[in-house]
Amino acid sequence: MKALILAGGVGTRLRPLSHAMPKQLVPIANKPVVYHGLENIRRAGITEVGMVVGDRGDQIRAEVGDGSRLGLRITYIPQSEPLGLAHCVLISRDFLGDDDFVMYLGDNVLLGEISDFLEDFREHRPAAQVVVTKVADPTACGIAEVDADGRVLGLEEKPRHPKSDLALMGVYLFSPAVHEAVQSIGRSRRDEWEITDAIQWLVERGERVRAQQFSGFWRDTGQIEDLLECNRVLLDGLTGDRKGDVDALSRLSGQVVVEHGAKVRRSRIEGPVIIAEGTVIEDSVIGPHTAFGPDCAVYDAGVRNSIVLAGTTVRGVHGIHDSVIGRSSTIVPSPGEPRRHRLIVGDHTYAELAT
Ligand code: G1P
Repeated sequence: MKALILAGGVGTRLRPLSHAMPKQLVPIANKPVVYHGLENIRRAGITEVGMVVGDRGDQIRAEVGDGSRLGLRITYIPQSEPLGLAHCVLISRDFLGDDDFVMYLGDNVLLGEISDFLEDFREHRPAAQVVVTKVADPTACGIAEVDADGRVLGLEEKPRHPKSDLALMGVYLFSPAVHEAVQSIGRSRRDEWEITDAIQWLVERGERVRAQQFSGFWRDTGQIEDLLECNRVLLDGLTGDRKGDVDALSRLSGQVVVEHGAKVRRSRIEGPVIIAEGTVIEDSVIGPHTAFGPDCAVYDAGVRNSIVLAGTTVRGVHGIHDSVIGRSSTIVPSPGEPRRHRLIVGDHTYAELAT
């Protein structure tokens, strides 16, 4: 059994963050999104991983490397253009050989174990197995119609008139039968080779395709709101750890991680909160549900329910909430008259200011 992790794509809806980094490297609970999937794959006992990367592949390689740190052997498979999930399988043919494989979308986060899905796949050994979950808006996902025995009767990508509310999550299990399917389909409405269409092709050929329903937490981290929600949910599972330097005048409650080399002075931290190494927090009120990346400087500030990336300074500003702040940013009060705002922000930035 191998794994194919898809880490290409553009991340349009995660701009401006995705201008500077591939969406799979955006940190959630201080860990790049793609690591949540890679670690899950490793826990399922899989070590051979193919990673499909797009034009930001260099950054992913620099961060993840050959996978040995995670106990994995990673082969990078470059995709010249984001032409769809079935196209990713097509270009990975040499790596996959005739092995069964799990395909995992590198921007998906789930609170559950891939090994549970593998067990079901091994037991029934269908041509393909999808993992589905109930969603409120089935028009935004791939949708499967499933009978009472878990057999898939039909699938459709982002249907206008959905026949079910069971969405395909970004975890698929395939036998080598998928290779003929991905070669046999055409391009979709959005001009991509859809994996949903390839699986539908298998269904139409009379192949056995199964669905396993998942009821735990799952998000495709396609949008900023999803990132914040994943951050909240993953931080809820945090175990506090104080390796850094916390002075006697600070008050920490709940689960708070202060990494080695981080400093907390005269501050109130309400967990769950992670403060990465090299970050200094002084005279501030932080949390809950906030993750500071490394080397941030936070003085006289209030930040909650937010993700703050490495090297950012927040000084003299309170009431920051539900925010995602990119690397090496500076957030300070406007000098002089009140109600004046000075903004030097990147493309596709979103700002809410008190008026
Ligand atoms: C892709 C799949 C879709 C699936 C979703 C899960 O959608 O095409 O079937 O439901 O991932 O994250 P995309 O993110 O390409 O819109």
